[in-house]
Amino acid sequence: MLAIETHNLTHDFLTGFWRKQTVRALDGLSLSVASGEVFGLLGPNGAGKTTTFKILMGLIRPTGGEARILDEPVQTVAMRRRIGYLPEQPYFYDYLTAREFLLYCGALCDLPKAKARQRTDELLRQVGLADSADRQLRKFSKGMLQRVGLAQALIHNPEVLFLDEPMSGLDPLGRREVRDLIVGLRAQGKTVFFSSHILTDVEAMCDRVAILNKGHLVESGKLSEILKTRSNELDVVVSGVNEPALADIRSFAASVSATPDIARVRLNNDRDLERLLALTHQTGGRIVSVNPVRESLEDLFVREVTR
Ligand SMILES: Nc1ncnc2c1ncn2[C@@H]1O[C@H](COP(=O)(O)OP(=O)(O)O)[C@@H](O)[C@H]1O
Ligand SMILES: [Mg+2]
Repeated sequence: MLAIETHNLTHDFLTGFWRKQTVRALDGLSLSVASGEVFGLLGPNGAGKTTTFKILMGLIRPTGGEARILDEPVQTVAMRRRIGYLPEQPYFYDYLTAREFLLYCGALCDLPKAKARQRTDELLRQVGLADSADRQLRKFSKGMLQRVGLAQALIHNPEVLFLDEPMSGLDPLGRREVRDLIVGLRAQGKTVFFSSHILTDVEAMCDRVAILNKGHLVESGKLSEILKTRSNELDVVVSGVNEPALADIRSFAASVSATPDIARVRLNNDRDLERLLALTHQTGGRIVSVNPVRESLEDLFVREVTR
């Protein structure tokens, strides 16, 4: 089943004093997200990611095209009970504690009191805030607030999660925590649709991605498919290879960068690998790793966004 479907989604914002000029924030976006997928919407600032989220959440109406969630139009109330949303800039009530805020969100979702209490306890634990449950939100760090935001999106145990830049403003540890949380949601069979410009995080956890630039979809698919393998190039790391052997390796390798105990060898061709292995073993060295040279998500992003 499809969790999310957009067809030719387009949005023009009216700007200017008399609201006569328009800015096309989204231009003909068509994509589909299967149920149970973790899907990353990528793109630089101003690409149209938040606009896409706002349309999907029914906060703004598209100028053209249509969007469906769980096979329902985006305005459907029954469907909205089955989805959760973390906005890009969530607003929190400073003087509520984390527990009070989540109980309040549970009430807004029409959860029975006992159920709301149980979910609040569960989620505070899950996002690592059990020890701060009774502190006021104004005393929370940005990373802690982001986790409260995630807990809020999950309070009614939704099937599909919409997370707009869930990792922005977090330090590396906080990013890893959010990443682990999303991976955990996938394990529970949830669909996660999130946006990001932090590419390394995306690489580690998405089933599929779409790249937006200036409102246009420039690429989408499985990461393994859209990251081009650069022909037969290999990156080999070896240790314990002596100088004479290194000189031999330099004669056929594309490049070699060596420290006294480790050498990184780039081979143009996998046929050269056997020669390299033989030389390494002859001098009593060891193979540390052999990797095909792949374009990183960073390279892809730059290639697509600057062309
Ligand atoms: N309320 C608005 N009024 C006018 N232009 C807007 C409004 N919101 C967003 N935009 C413009 O739409 C484009 C896409 O914005 P947005 O969807 O927020 O991008 P992203 O989330 O990818 O950074 C940008 O050019 C932005 O300036
Ligand atoms: Mg945004």
